[in-house]
Amino acid sequence: MSYPVKKLSNGISIPYMGMGTFGSDRYGAREVSAAVKDAVEYGYRLIDCASVYQNEDLIGKLLADVLADGKIKREDLFIQSKVWNDMHHKGDALLSCAKTLKDLQLDYLDLYFVHWPFPNFHPPGCDVDSRSPDSRPFITEEFMAFWQQMEKLVDMGLVKSLGMSNMTIPKMEAVLPLCRIKPVALEMELHPAFQQPELFDYCIKNNIQPIAFCPIGSPERPDRDTTSEDVAATQMPVIVDIAKAHNVPPAIICLKWATQRGQIPIPFSVRPNEYKSNLECGVTDPLTDAEMEAIKKADANCRLIKGQVFLWEGATDWHCLWDEGGTINGWNC
Ligand SMILES: NC(=O)c1ccc[n+]([C@@H]2O[C@H](COP(=O)([O-])OP(=O)(O)OC[C@H]3O[C@@H](n4cnc5c(N)ncnc54)[C@H](OP(=O)(O)O)[C@@H]3O)[C@@H](O)[C@H]2O)c1
Repeated sequence: MSYPVKKLSNGISIPYMGMGTFGSDRYGAREVSAAVKDAVEYGYRLIDCASVYQNEDLIGKLLADVLADGKIKREDLFIQSKVWNDMHHKGDALLSCAKTLKDLQLDYLDLYFVHWPFPNFHPPGCDVDSRSPDSRPFITEEFMAFWQQMEKLVDMGLVKSLGMSNMTIPKMEAVLPLCRIKPVALEMELHPAFQQPELFDYCIKNNIQPIAFCPIGSPERPDRDTTSEDVAATQMPVIVDIAKAHNVPPAIICLKWATQRGQIPIPFSVRPNEYKSNLECGVTDPLTDAEMEAIKKADANCRLIKGQVFLWEGATDWHCLWDEGGTINGWNC
């Protein structure tokens, strides 16, 4: 079976749905890479990787096996990855890209993202309230110096397209006019409980494809990303009711909503029944206009991936990262 594709602003095709590979500290590299291999053999073509997920080497080994088999060619696949926050210094984009290419055993990436728009990072497993002394607010000039490194990767033929992730409208407004090579996609948190209508519309207006992470509401996300106020997309009454009407699990309704709205979801699962039904759900039994409207109205504006560990010393709380007042927050947030 062949699945729909969408066109990016640079004319390159991208599959309408992909598979995530972040094991959320619960699923190890072996499990995730085995699922990726099976998923590609089943029909997935878009795989969302990142160096920080620490599984690109195993994914690469199994992808190489699939390609060696000859039934699927490199050009049939759409492999995307992301530069981690500790690789924003001079020369780092090339180093990070080279490591990812070596691990994934590829000559080029289809899409390469800046994972977060600042060089703030923490050791794995750190306390959610800890602050790194090196963390700082977003600085346009610093981001652009790094973006220029990313642009060179396109010039070198190592990367076909560039993307940004975890951005806000004020940050996009600051950097888009300065980009020689514009981002074709923005990877952002999107699910029925967090629809980000303004940022979504901004992307569409600017010909930037929204790619939806946590499209099912990330029920297995790490504990550090879980708070008692969080709304679970799969438990929202509107999603549960529509799921009953279509006789499918609520997760499937989240993905149908995503593809029909126009974002590209990248759901994660290591369970074959889940990832197979996920890929198929966007091409069968669509939601009605009334169902789409009901989900739109139920948006709970509930961000799950708040990014607390990227805050700088003195910042009040995680809202500082997201420029909710309409301007880029600085030290005094
Ligand atoms: N750019 C970024 O900063 C960023 C941030 C977060 C994530 N991501 C990317 O986005 C991907 C997806 O996000 P995510 O993994 O956090 O969240 P998600 O895809 O919303 O949720 C994944 C979980 O949903 C459950 N699930 C999947 N399919 C299902 C189905 N058909 N029925 C029932 N449950 C189902 C699985 O739970 P069980 O394991 O219990 O089956 C799975 O662990 C990641 O893997 C990663 O590639 C990017």
